[in-house]
Amino acid sequence: MTLYYEPVPDRARALADALEGEPHGAGDLAELASLVRADPGAQLVILGPTVELTDAVAFATQHRLTRPSLGVVLLRDQVDVAVLAEALRSGIREVITATDVNGIRAACARSLEVSQQLAQGRMAPADTPVKEGHLITVFAGKGGCGKSTIATNLAVALADGGKSRVCLVDLDLTFGDVAIMLQLVPKRSLADAVPMAGRLDETGVRSLVTPYAPGLDTLLAPPSPAEGERVGRELVSEIVKIAKRMYDYVVVDTPPFFSDQVLAALDLSQWYILLATPDIPALKNLRLTLDMFDMLEYPTSQRIIVLNRSDAQVGLTHADIERVVRAPIAGRVPSTRDVPVSINRGVPLMVDSPNNPVSRYIREVRGWIVSAQAQNGEAPAPAPRRGVFGLRRGR
Ligand SMILES: Nc1ncnc2c1ncn2[C@@H]1O[C@H](COP(=O)(O)OP(=O)(O)O)[C@@H](O)[C@H]1O
Ligand SMILES: [Mg+2]
Repeated sequence: MTLYYEPVPDRARALADALEGEPHGAGDLAELASLVRADPGAQLVILGPTVELTDAVAFATQHRLTRPSLGVVLLRDQVDVAVLAEALRSGIREVITATDVNGIRAACARSLEVSQQLAQGRMAPADTPVKEGHLITVFAGKGGCGKSTIATNLAVALADGGKSRVCLVDLDLTFGDVAIMLQLVPKRSLADAVPMAGRLDETGVRSLVTPYAPGLDTLLAPPSPAEGERVGRELVSEIVKIAKRMYDYVVVDTPPFFSDQVLAALDLSQWYILLATPDIPALKNLRLTLDMFDMLEYPTSQRIIVLNRSDAQVGLTHADIERVVRAPIAGRVPSTRDVPVSINRGVPLMVDSPNNPVSRYIREVRGWIVSAQAQNGEAPAPAPRRGVFGLRRGR
């Protein structure tokens, strides 16, 4: 049975309407606690937006140990980081905005799933390896090569209308373009993770995401460069590790240089999409990137080298290009006006023009990644490589 408590009668009625099934309302917190005691099968309690935070926290704390399978979902008129941090510490599973009916239903469904697994003893103990999603980092050592274009469109392709769960992370913390490319208003960004550093969990990460489309969430770059500086390497690792447990694919867009944060993502990646355009500075930077990857022992089999705007008439033959890069080019993406047009409209090409040659190429990349995952079952382990932080530790 689903139980709820909300002191203001009108709001209690609205809450009952929003909940699925036949929820049972309590008149006060004491009654709620006795309903929980009387029903050992109760798995979900929703606390309404006008319940005092201290009462909600006390209720969750009290039941966390005595009834670990009971999920508590808290509604608030405004979800801010301070509320979230306190709620999560007490064991409240999710904090959702009271007006977000779909969000409430989804949170209830997630919480019930967790409760059912816990009740049946199927929840993996903390030290059991959890199935992880693939992390794909899109990188180029020079700006303007098409990283954000490829990353956003690949994320849309991987989500495939909601068939897979994908998180697109904008690690271009100073000049991130993901929000503008998807016409998202960043109410929350990676900078909001700073106060939760060191004790983030899935609920915390979920509170940071901005949903874009079915199956596709985003973790956006902070709105100002100064805030971006506060998001350090350790925090990026923490966020990415949790996101990999929550999503089938995590796609990371990057700035055009090896920042500490980028290196943290690269160390955890299963795939590296490396971009260049057919001009000597971009090709030289791609070569330098590959040298760095060799040094860090990132597996060559997981590198997908893509030449973007490959048809630009700039006096370089394919042979010239391969001579500079000294590595096989997996694909060539043509230049098309549709790309800047789609960016200016704020709608990814993959959504509007799935048959455009750029969209078709990105679906091909998606195909490789998906079929590799299907064949391996698991992500190729990022473990055996040295990685930059391995090097720094002097391994
Ligand atoms: N295949 C392409 N055809 C035409 N224009 C492109 C293509 N790929 C990228 N662009 C353009 O190049 C510019 C830089 O792309 P962007 O994805 O922002 O690069 P980055 O993130 O690497 O800096 C954008 O204005 C975009 O419209
Ligand atoms: Mg970019």
